[in-house]
Amino acid sequence: LSATKYNVKRKEFGSVQADDVNFFKSVLSEEQVLTEESDVLPFNIDWIKNCRGQSKVVLKPKSTKQVSEILAYCNKRQLAVCPQGGNTGLVGGSVPVFDEIVLSLSLMNKIISLDEISGALVCEAGCILETLDNYVKEQNLIMPLDLGAKGSCHIGGNVSTNAGGLRLLRYGNLHGSLMGVEAVKADGTVVDCIRTLKKDNTGYHLKHLFIGSEGTLGIVTKVAVHCPVLPKAVTLGFFGVKDFDSVLKLYKSAKASLGEILSAFEMADNDSISSTVQNLKLPNPIADFPFYVLVETHGSDETHDAEKLSRFLEREMSSGLIIDGTVTSEPAKMQTIWNLRESIAGAGLLDGYVYKYDVSIPAARYYDLVPVLRQRMAGKAVKVYGYGHVGDGNIHINVTVPEYSKEATDMLEPFIFEEVSKLKGSISAEHGVGFRKPHFIHYSKDEGAISLMRELKQLMDPNGILNPYKVLPDP
Ligand code: FAD
Ligand code: MLT
Ligand code: ZN
Repeated sequence: LSATKYNVKRKEFGSVQADDVNFFKSVLSEEQVLTEESDVLPFNIDWIKNCRGQSKVVLKPKSTKQVSEILAYCNKRQLAVCPQGGNTGLVGGSVPVFDEIVLSLSLMNKIISLDEISGALVCEAGCILETLDNYVKEQNLIMPLDLGAKGSCHIGGNVSTNAGGLRLLRYGNLHGSLMGVEAVKADGTVVDCIRTLKKDNTGYHLKHLFIGSEGTLGIVTKVAVHCPVLPKAVTLGFFGVKDFDSVLKLYKSAKASLGEILSAFEMADNDSISSTVQNLKLPNPIADFPFYVLVETHGSDETHDAEKLSRFLEREMSSGLIIDGTVTSEPAKMQTIWNLRESIAGAGLLDGYVYKYDVSIPAARYYDLVPVLRQRMAGKAVKVYGYGHVGDGNIHINVTVPEYSKEATDMLEPFIFEEVSKLKGSISAEHGVGFRKPHFIHYSKDEGAISLMRELKQLMDPNGILNPYKVLPDP
């Protein structure tokens, strides 16, 4: 249980009684209220099995009105609520800690409209990212974000975490591509900022409050997202590189040579790929190398893109930055490579227990912490590896151990956050703060910033019922 594992005390919220369940059943239908232990269990456990809550009730509203009625009631009764999307979050934010009511958006999955000309998609928060991507593809559009969890994560979860993903380098983050949002405040007030306009400077840009606030300021119920054009030409290169310095040089060269068509630049060290290949029995289409780089282009003209790419390849094969590798535009082959990259996230679970760190570090020092942690955890860790979104300065460091132990945790934390702070990095680049990191937030935010966050929380959720124990540290 998260509460005992992380030594957290329950706050003074109400606890769900039979009358409360009856009220929920009067607002929702019978099958939208789960109370059987076995039905509730999956909503209590996070994707990497780091956190486990003790909720007794899951509510699955089908409309904004139902969300509003539930929250108004919970606010009056001081019942705490944990909003949940696809439950793919990696910082324990999506699962309860104690007996918070889980508010699952999974039945709010309707697509409302798609403007083929502007690319504005309006849909409910519980739509699965991959479903949306397949839908907009029919109109030659793509979703502006893509991540390994696309088959399960919700667009509402993506907005609430400000998810980054594999192509942020090209399409930017959700603060740029979210055109509008509808959200419900803790007291049940509906804030309708659904607009499909690129420009709207009518006062405060409230949508940004909900982007990345991890369910602590309101429940996202609808979104309007700008979808870019589906690229006509896509090419993927997967290369072996001798050291991390070469990864950085190659990134600089890729930006210069490929310019506007560069859509992803990812890296993985040898242990990331070899663990994934071994643990998940996946094929690696190229040989064994100290570092791997994945370079993708999205463009509108195959010939133009191929010319640019072959010039880049010729130069960097002869310079020795690329030792060897493969380049393909065949969908099945591209899928194999992406699948290998995206599977790193879960491969470590087979070693036992995974400590995941998701940090931003200035480019030159990007990989510095991996060898430091390897040495520090020698004899304790099964593996320590680094991979991630080089183009965004965002490295993921996974430390796998046979099983969770307080000793291993204390060796890693706060050490790693102190090191990141010294490097002027961020202790959470894209996964958020959730339950796992509130007490480390000061390594990335100063007192003034944290107290403004507290003031916003107090303003929008004075009873603190929305996702307690998450994001904000105890005073
Ligand atoms: P959940 O996990 O259910 O919730 C995440 C947080 O948002 C919680 O705090 C929850 O309370 C809140 N929340 C969810 N829905 C709502 C809502 N409608 N209103 C208010 N609050 C809400 N993340 C990245 O940024 N980049 C990646 O590349 C990436 N790759 C991943 C790959 C894998 C294999 C996995 C398992 C995860 C990955 N993630 C990545 C993390 C995760 O997928 C993202 O954070 C994602 O945006 C979470 O969406 P979700 O619907 O699963 O949200
Ligand atoms: C990724 O880039 O693969 C994800 O953010 C998930 C992870 O950190 O493992
Ligand atoms: Zn990532």
